[in-house]
Amino acid sequence: MARPKIALIGAGQIGGTLAHLVALKELGDVILFDIAEGTPQGKALDIAQSGPSARFDASLKGANSYEEIAGADVCIVTAGVPRKPGMSRDDLLGINLKVMKSVGEGIKAHAPNAFVICITNPLDAMVWALQQFSGLPSHMVCGMAGVLDSARFRHFLSQEFGVSTKDVTAFVLGGHGDTMVPLVRYSTVAGIPLPDLVKMGWTTQEKLDGIVQRTRDGGAEIVGLLKTGSAFYAPAQSAIEMAEAYLKDQKRVLPCAAHVSGAYGLDGMYVGVPTVIGAGGIEKVIEIAMDEGESAMFQKSVDAVKGLVAACKGIDQSLA
Ligand code: APR
Repeated sequence: MARPKIALIGAGQIGGTLAHLVALKELGDVILFDIAEGTPQGKALDIAQSGPSARFDASLKGANSYEEIAGADVCIVTAGVPRKPGMSRDDLLGINLKVMKSVGEGIKAHAPNAFVICITNPLDAMVWALQQFSGLPSHMVCGMAGVLDSARFRHFLSQEFGVSTKDVTAFVLGGHGDTMVPLVRYSTVAGIPLPDLVKMGWTTQEKLDGIVQRTRDGGAEIVGLLKTGSAFYAPAQSAIEMAEAYLKDQKRVLPCAAHVSGAYGLDGMYVGVPTVIGAGGIEKVIEIAMDEGESAMFQKSVDAVKGLVAACKGIDQSLA
């Protein structure tokens, strides 16, 4: 059987890391696409030359033409501009919306059967626009945010408790922004919910609140340190986990920006929710029970995403 074809649209920091991970994990052959001439070709060749030592079998090719993504099984989209210090993800909206238009049209014309994972920010609005521009079924287009936000939360929690990240589960809902909703009640160490761990004296409520805030600010913390761009290792790994769930029909339960219609009282919009990812794409949106405080936080996040979508419609009349 031929290897799956994985198209990476955008060959910058995240795109290059994605290509490396796809090769190392032997998930398939890679087409690295970018408008910058030479960049995708150079990165593809560099990674391919690591193959003999890393002992992977994968073909990697750089491209500046959408024809090269023809028949891709998975497209991961990072095309656009990243944040600089002092910028919010929302500041990227105008520029990246135009990029989503060209990417959506490229996918529509050449890879209409792909499972599409968007990473470009502001995530929830960009994945919505990408689905609109590409016209692909909404269960085949999703955004990577929740896996990353949960991973950041798990990392901080594992440090606080001095335990392996393998034993820490975490739940983050809502939009990928300052209004994201880390759900403390549903996050655990080896199945013990965080509020119980506070009662057991493993940590304090104050420390937990600090970790929640650090998780919300997780992207900004890295932008502040890097100064010239935003995070790329953890975002790439998070998207790889989602792509692998699709390619291997793993039925993973992963939080991601999915099209929600009906659940959570929403009438067809993209926002971060728990989903099941398998060969059918987003096979299920899981609706969890929230208490009053959690619902209020989620609603605030939903409203923020709606505001960004309205701004997109204001910029590009074809979306209205
Ligand atoms: N089509 C294809 N590629 C494009 C286009 C376009 N219309 N416009 C820009 N690009 C390419 C750039 O040439 C660059 O190589 O997208 C790439 C983006 O790479 P980086 O600037 O290194 O950004 P990166 O860190 O990879 O982040 C990409 O993901 O997390 C988000 O906020 C982040 O929106 C940003 C995106």
